[in-house]
This record gives sequence, structure tokens and C-alpha cells, in this order.
Amino acid sequence: MPGIAVLGAQWGDEGKGKIVHLLSKNADMAVRFNGGTNAGHTVVFNPDQADQAGESEFRFHLIPSGALHPNCVGVLGNGMVIEPFALAAELRQLSEQLGQAPRIWISQNAHMILPYHPIVERLEGATSELDTTAKGIGPAYRDKTARHGIRTCELRSPGRFQELLAQNLARERAIFPDSQELQELDPAKLTEQILAATDGMRDRLTDTSLLINRALDEGRAVVFEGAQGCLLDIDFGTYPYVTSSSATIGGVGVGAGVSPRRLERVIGVAKAYATRVGAGPFPTEETEALGRRLREQGHEYGTTTGRPRRCGWLDLVALRYAVRLNGLTELALTKLDVLSGLDQLQVTVAYRREGERLTEFPTTLEELSACEPSYQSLPGWSERLESCRSFSDLPPSAQRYVRFIEEQLELPVGTISVGPSFHDTIRIAGG
Ligand code: GDP
Ligand code: IMO
Ligand code: MG
Repeated sequence: MPGIAVLGAQWGDEGKGKIVHLLSKNADMAVRFNGGTNAGHTVVFNPDQADQAGESEFRFHLIPSGALHPNCVGVLGNGMVIEPFALAAELRQLSEQLGQAPRIWISQNAHMILPYHPIVERLEGATSELDTTAKGIGPAYRDKTARHGIRTCELRSPGRFQELLAQNLARERAIFPDSQELQELDPAKLTEQILAATDGMRDRLTDTSLLINRALDEGRAVVFEGAQGCLLDIDFGTYPYVTSSSATIGGVGVGAGVSPRRLERVIGVAKAYATRVGAGPFPTEETEALGRRLREQGHEYGTTTGRPRRCGWLDLVALRYAVRLNGLTELALTKLDVLSGLDQLQVTVAYRREGERLTEFPTTLEELSACEPSYQSLPGWSERLESCRSFSDLPPSAQRYVRFIEEQLELPVGTISVGPSFHDTIRIAGG
């Protein structure tokens, strides 16, 4: 059985959680390979019955969304940064909601987000200048790259863990000598608290690359759940307005220890319009009435931070970039229902820069800031879509909108999502 990657094709929050959960119904393993508590993935589902009644909302930050299915074990891969208190809280919350703890494995090589990371991020101004999620993501990945990060395997040797923590704290205090918050962190006390929080979790630490590869060898289905999205990728996103990990296909290789050759399907998840939360370029942003309408209709407020998301029209130049970088084999188009009631829909098919027509996404901020979107107008539809369960149930204009995207991207749309619920989904044959 194949590996299936599910990747954000825009600026995050595309509905990856819902799509991963859907695909994991028949999978044995769902794997996160990048990011940390900056991710917020939502699933709306009733685990006790197959119908739509009594559904609850489940929010995932570190645990893969597929772990909601009892048959599917969640794996937190080596490319993630794991905040121990947040993981304990998430496990507790999911256990309460499900009536049992989700099964997980945690990479012993994954780095940890520790209490000094969010403090340092704020002191450096990244939270305000880049408008990050303030979870300490950048500083945690920086410690990793600078080769003094602390990995989860260190939790097995409390003495060494405390020593490493003390060294890292001393380093940060030397950089920010006036920070009372850093002064107040006590390595011994923190070690004790972290050990208490991760009690019962430490026996889940393992070589997850081996685990995943064995599952694939045995013919089991494994779903790789991307966090963030292509335009937030550390290498290919709108740098420096990006996150600090690889949200594109390469992230699966380095963040899970799996060869890309094992992936049979690479599914890009994209909203039927576009959103971005946080600062940075967003060529098709609509700041007036339409932006507000999409935000309210689509409930576009961050799952992790509650921040309002910036909204705008679908950008096919940006999506074409995601198709190319990731070698997408299909698209999952979400939130098509949110567009109901608009007379005309605009879709960006190209950018204009100094009289020139661009169809490829520019890779520097300077180039991007000089671009104007070139729109093509398509007819909208008034009908609500929540009850549509097959492509032919969609109004003709909605069908045309989907077909237009397929033609422009030269990529099949395999799944259309028309509501937050597991059931509000159209699967297209061959997709
Ligand atoms: P993720 O980070 O990519 O997993 O996406 P988020 O969970 O942060 O944001 C997507 C939001 O849209 C969540 O609140 C979902 O419940 C919701 N959602 C997902 N698919 C659809 C859809 O097709 N229609 C509507 N209206 N909401 C959806
Ligand atoms: P999911 O997985 C949307 C954004 C932040 C900020 C930038 C850097 O739910 O799609 P960071 O805290 O990562 O250093 O912030 O990236 N960002 C996201 N936006 N969805 C996410 O995750 C995001 N994770 C980070 O708003 O602009
Ligand atoms: Mg999200």
C-alpha cells in the first residue's frame, strides 16, 4: 500500500486536518513531519456513529488528525518541534473527547520547544514584525540548526536534559541580560515539570523512521500530514514571512525519514479562495467588503491563535507554484460552499509586472510587491452546497468553477469539500 502526502498548497489553514482525517479512515498510520504548535488542524466528526448527528469539533496541534480513527496510529516525526506541555494537554483533551487516549508514537530525534523559546521569539521582535503564532517555532528550529537543540530522547536522561537546558538558558540570558522572564526560569524546576508532563509519554519515544518504513514494507497505508502550506515554506515561501520548517514535499523526506519514492499520491489541499494569517505578501487580498464577507462566511479566524485571517480571491499563480514544487498528483478543493451567493467570482490566472504578464510565482518580495493580479471572471451560484454529495449535485456554475481550476492547473480535483463535517464531501472518481 502506498504513502499518501497531504500538503497545504496555499498559506496554511486549507483544511488539511479534514482531508487527512478522511483519508486515514482506511490507513494504519498518520504522520506529522514538520512544524509544531503553530499548526491548528480541525476535524468535525462523530467517532461513535457513522451519521452526521452529534458531531464534535476536534482541534489538533501536534497529534496527527488521522489518529482520531482507532485503527490509525499517530506518529510525530523527527522534523517536528514538540512542546511537551502542549502535547500533554492535547492528549488529555482528545482522551476526554474520545473516551480513550489516541495511540501515538513520538520520534526520539524530534527537537523540543522549551519555555524559553516563546520568550526569546518575543524579545527578538519576531512575534510583532513577522506576526508569528508566538509559539517559539523559529527559536526552536534555530537551536536545532545551531546544533544545541534538545531532542526528545534526552528526556530519558534527566540529568543530561537539565544540563542542556541550563546551557541553553545561560546562552539566551547572555543575549538578553535584562529579561526578568528568562532569569526566572529555573532549569531544575523546569526539568521536573517537563518530566511530570511527559510521564507515560516517554515510552512512546522511538525511531519513527524505522516504524514508518516497516509499515510501508508491510503494505500498510500511511498518510503524511503537512502543517502550514507551500507559501509558508522556509525555502519556497514568501521569505522572511514564512515558518521555519519545510511544508513542501521535501519535508516528508527529512521530517519523517521516508524516501519520496514511497509516495504514490501527493495531494495538495487548497481553499476555493485564499486566506493568509499573519504578515506578508498576499497578492489577491481583498481588504474591503468582499474580504469581510469571506471571513464571516468562512469563519476565517485562526484555529491556533484566533486571529482574523486575511481573505481574497483564488490565486492560480500561487497554486501553479505549489503544483510544480510538490509534484502534486491531485487537488483537494475545500470550502467551495463559502462562495455560494456571490454573483461573480474572480480568479487570478496571471500577474502583471511592469507591463509583463507572469504565470509563474515570483520568488522575491521585491518582485512580488510589484505584481498586480490579472483576474478572470466566472459566474457564481446562489445555491447552498452543504448537501451536495456528488459532482453532478453541484450547480452548473460551481461545476464550471472546479473544471476551470483543473484546466488551468492541469491537475485533477479528486475531492471537493462543501462543509466542515467529514460527511460534507464529494469524492470524484479517479481522483
Ligand atoms: P488546516 O490547518 O489546514 O487543517 O485548516 P484549519 O482547521 O486551520 O482551518 C480550516 C477550517 O475550515 C476549519 O474550521 C474547518 O472545520 C473548516 N472547513 C474545512 N473544510 C471546510 C469546508 O469545505 N467548508 C467549510 N465551510 N468549512 C470547512
Ligand atoms: P496550519 O498547519 C496558517 C504563519 C503565522 C506567521 C508565519 C510564521 O494550521 O495550516 P510561526 O509561528 O510558524 O513562526 O509563524 O506562519 N503560520 C500559519 N498560518 N496556518 C498555519 O498552520 C500556520 N503556522 C504558521 O501566522 O505568519
Ligand atoms: Mg490551521
